[in-house]
Parts: sequence; C-alpha cells; structure tokens
Amino acid sequence: MAEWTWETLESQCKNCTACGLAATRHNVVFGVGNPRAEVLFIGEGPGENEDLQGEPFVGRGGQLLDKMLASVGLSRQKNIYIANIVKCRPPRNRDPQPEEQEACINWLKAQTALIRPKIIVCLGRIAACRLITPDFKVTRQHGEFFLKNGVWMMGTLHPAALLRNPSQKPDGFADFLALRDKIGEVCDSTELYYPE
Ligand code: URA
Ligand code: SF4
Repeated sequence: MAEWTWETLESQCKNCTACGLAATRHNVVFGVGNPRAEVLFIGEGPGENEDLQGEPFVGRGGQLLDKMLASVGLSRQKNIYIANIVKCRPPRNRDPQPEEQEACINWLKAQTALIRPKIIVCLGRIAACRLITPDFKVTRQHGEFFLKNGVWMMGTLHPAALLRNPSQKPDGFADFLALRDKIGEVCDSTELYYPE
C-alpha cells in the first residue's frame, strides 16, 4: 500500500465502498484516540450507536470499556487508539463475514503502520482470530501475550460479552492489569492518567 498521512488515510477510508457494508452504513467508523499512542485496541466492527455517531465503542459496552481503561490509567482521549476490524456496521450486528474483513483489513493495516504500536489488544474473538491466530480461544487464552512481528498482542473478553456475562468481569479486569504491567515493561512514552 502507498504511503499515507493520517489525514489522507482517514478521508480516503471515509469514502470507501469496497464491500457490501457500505450500502447500509450511516457513518464509516474510522477510529478514535491518539494516533501516536503505543497501545492500539481493536474491536470487531461498529454497532448501532457507533454507526450513528461515527465513533467506536460508544454504547453500553463502550461505557464499560472506558471504565476498565480508566482503572489502569488509560483513556481514549489521551494515550491509546481504538479501531475495528471492519469500519462499517454489519446489519443487525451480525459477525463481519470473512470477505468483508478481507476487504477492510488494509485500512487497519495502514492505521497500524502509521501508529506503530508496541502493544495491540484484541477485544473479543473476531479481532483475536483475525490478528493473533485463527484458532484463538478467548475463554482459555485471554490475557496471554504473544510477540508477533515485534508487537505484543493480547486478546481479551469483548465488553459486550462482559455485559452479557457479568461473572466474567473479574477475568476482564485481570487482563487490563496484565496490560498495565506490559505497558510498564515495553512502552517508552505512555503516561498513565488517574483522575481523582
Ligand atoms: N463492538 C465492537 O467490536 N466495536 C465497536 O466499535 C462497538 C462495539
Ligand atoms: Fe470499506 Fe471497510 Fe466499510 Fe467495507 S467495511 S465499505 S471495506 S470501510
């Protein structure tokens, strides 16, 4: 892929019609956060609220995600970036199909090439299977770090799964604590924020 600046990448992506999801979207959800962050979070794709607002993780799951981020000094406004495998909402929130993921993945690759994260956190099965290993088992492998092409990769439970299954919340929080430790180990410029 050609060299991009962040701004041209974002404006090109927002005009993308490379897969069928373009027909039903209201907004392309490019991502949110600090493109100079060392930690990149990746979900599967926009839901209804995200499609309407043009920002990832803004529904109930997003509120839980923001709480978990804040508990370890992370904030979408400051020290991380958040994107998705597919940038347009799959109808009725179905899983993004392999051909849709394939059509969209170059946007994420270009984002990743510009951000050059030290750590990538996959939120849920779809992202972890696409980016870590196709047979990733979230229930067994969440919170484990894998070094892939010089980047530390971790899969954790999707916030929506934690809302459906609150008994798994402690597991989810444990992954965020492991993430905080990993940030301390491998990141150079990430400042953690603990608002009083
Ligand atoms: N779920 C995701 O995977 N991504 C979003 O942006 C919102 C919900
Ligand atoms: Fe383009 Fe991705 Fe949206 Fe499909 S989901 S139209 S590939 S931006």
